Amino acid sequence: MTRDDRTAVGARILSLGGGKGGVGKTFITANLAVALARAGYRVVAVDADLEGANLHTCLGVPTPLVSLADFVAQREDDLGKLLIDSGEPNLQIIAGTHANLAEAQPSHLRRVRLMRSLRQLPADFVLLDLGAGIHASVLDYFLVGDEGLLVLQPEPTSVENAYSFLRAAFYRRLRLAMVGHGVRKLVTQAMDQRNERGIRTPHDLLREVEALDPLEGRRFVETMRAFRPRIVINGVRTAEDVKLGFAVSSVCRKYFGIEGDYLGYVNHDDAVRRSVVARKPVLDFQAGSDAAIYLQRIAHKLAGLPVGSVSADRAGGERRP
Ligand SMILES: Nc1ncnc2c1ncn2[C@@H]1O[C@H](COP(=O)(O)OP(=O)(O)OP(=O)(O)O)[C@@H](O)[C@H]1O
Ligand SMILES: [Mg+2]
Repeated sequence: MTRDDRTAVGARILSLGGGKGGVGKTFITANLAVALARAGYRVVAVDADLEGANLHTCLGVPTPLVSLADFVAQREDDLGKLLIDSGEPNLQIIAGTHANLAEAQPSHLRRVRLMRSLRQLPADFVLLDLGAGIHASVLDYFLVGDEGLLVLQPEPTSVENAYSFLRAAFYRRLRLAMVGHGVRKLVTQAMDQRNERGIRTPHDLLREVEALDPLEGRRFVETMRAFRPRIVINGVRTAEDVKLGFAVSSVCRKYFGIEGDYLGYVNHDDAVRRSVVARKPVLDFQAGSDAAIYLQRIAHKLAGLPVGSVSADRAGGERRP
């Protein structure tokens, strides 16, 4: 899609979630934003983590006075007025600073309005950096994305939380897609993992929905098809770690009946921590580092650009996804 086409349909929204804190969502958002901006796209990076805003810091932007918190608190209706220059050509940010921590989560109505406004931002790509957890607002930000990037680390805790996050997002999407009261109630029941109806998987739920209302059953299947998380494994140290992306993608297919696309991985790299300490994107801090190279590959893959080759010894000699 060319930039002119994109201007006509609105910005392409990428949401970065993962359920667990500290897995690298903010670091990856910041660096993908820089990589896409350098590839010539107009990019807005939005800090949707109002309870732990720090995206601006990863990009070396001093604590902004205006932020998404102004939109949430209804002090500002125009997202365009919250845009801040990042210092990087083509890249602007909407920070998440100075939130009212007593009411950091936007109301449902405010979220709906926000989602509409995000698409109208003057950008080719809008990247949403999400907070940890499975609060309804985090799930909505993930679902509003044209693509939801699921960021996880090769550790059991992170994998566990990523599945809980996916499950919560999937059921939320389903409940929103279902029209009938009875079917919605079924979905709500299925969200309780130990429900008495014995619905354990989305496939069990689909059977029940089809029995109740075949039309809703078709809608269910369409929703399943449209839900396509893109998997990013961060903090890779071994060839085994690389394979996790394929395993997650296979669980998506077998358990949820959905296609999870393995977008790529980023090696564990000490340059990342040092770049955060220096308040610089790793792409600037150490352009030749493994992390910088792999992030650029992911950005190019997202943009549909040729990804180039990276020498095989950089990630345990595994074939790239
Ligand atoms: N590939 C990596 N290699 C080495 N260290 C990393 C890597 N990715 C992230 N880190 C380290 O983990 C820290 C936490 O990352 P980050 O703040 O992006 O996580 P997060 O998922 O946004 O957390 P939160 O949910 O709390 O917002 C970084 O500051 C960095 O020090
Ligand atoms: Mg973060």
